[in-house]
Amino acid sequence: MDFVGNHILSVGQFQRSDVNRIFSVADRMRPYAMRKRITRVLEGAIVSNMFFEPSTRTRVSFGSAFNLLGGEVRETTEVKASSLTKGESLYDTARVLSGYSDVIVMRHPEAGSVAEFAAASRVPVINGGDGPNEHPSQALLDLYTMREELRAQDRSLDHLRIALIGDLRYGRAVHSLCKLLCLYDDIHIHFISPPELEIPEEISLQLRNHGHQVTQFHRLEAGIHGVDILYVTRTQEERFPSQDEADKYRGLFRLNESIYTQHCEPNTVIMHPLPRDSRAQAQELDEDLNQNPNLAIFRQTDNGVLVRMALFALVLNVVEEVDNHAKPVTWFTAKRNLAEKM
Ligand code: CP
Repeated sequence: MDFVGNHILSVGQFQRSDVNRIFSVADRMRPYAMRKRITRVLEGAIVSNMFFEPSTRTRVSFGSAFNLLGGEVRETTEVKASSLTKGESLYDTARVLSGYSDVIVMRHPEAGSVAEFAAASRVPVINGGDGPNEHPSQALLDLYTMREELRAQDRSLDHLRIALIGDLRYGRAVHSLCKLLCLYDDIHIHFISPPELEIPEEISLQLRNHGHQVTQFHRLEAGIHGVDILYVTRTQEERFPSQDEADKYRGLFRLNESIYTQHCEPNTVIMHPLPRDSRAQAQELDEDLNQNPNLAIFRQTDNGVLVRMALFALVLNVVEEVDNHAKPVTWFTAKRNLAEKM
């Protein structure tokens, strides 16, 4: 696809070559994310970070990514802090904000809302998550992390064996990730969820139509054998019709060190889009796994900055200019010392 000046709304926009392009630009962003070098390539540019639903990672890492490229960030963090509460339409909001910005990142609780907003915007819009529908940048950073983790084992994304665990019905990160996996060859997928929270049929069908092997499980221990990656998700309780309904599924599947050691191969990578639900009743990914070297959740979050820098650089057409605006960092930063661990 042509990234320059275009919206990023769905992973369905990408061919495998587009994903490769994003990943190769993300690789080039590493010295900047690690504070080994500074670039001011986006000096003067403004991103509007419009988050009409709670977020920590996506909002802050898109903002950090833009800052690391030298640009400035404007934010709205709640619906109630915006004029949407006064009845302003997405159309009017988009027309106004695109007059103030060079690119917009938006998260909204309704499926399709970011696309509706983008249709009225005069600058590129990046989908930061629209209801249960899609979360393209999360899926890209997840896939980038999988590529890195498998590369350390001399493997590639083709022939990947992965278990996706938890609320697969409402989990938008899983939906986007499955669509991206359709770009690869011979993937074996174990979907592990309660029967009521199975992956939507159209996504399962799409995977099968690409020749992938899909198996459904309703018990955690039954599906976590023989995979390269465990991708755990929390119950998306904010999407359920009621709290009582959501509470039925809280804590049904809990991966901990004991279950992992008993049922998984020694180098099985553990991933989660985060946030994980650490409340006592939930704990889908137990903190007793925190010292397990195969726990990749914080490598995922670090990689999110690289991937989001790449998206901005591609959409705003500065990939080839980044290094021309670079200089070494002169101030102290612990990040440089940690670079090799990232
Ligand atoms: N993974 C993710 O979207 O996290 P946030 O909700 O904190 O942005």
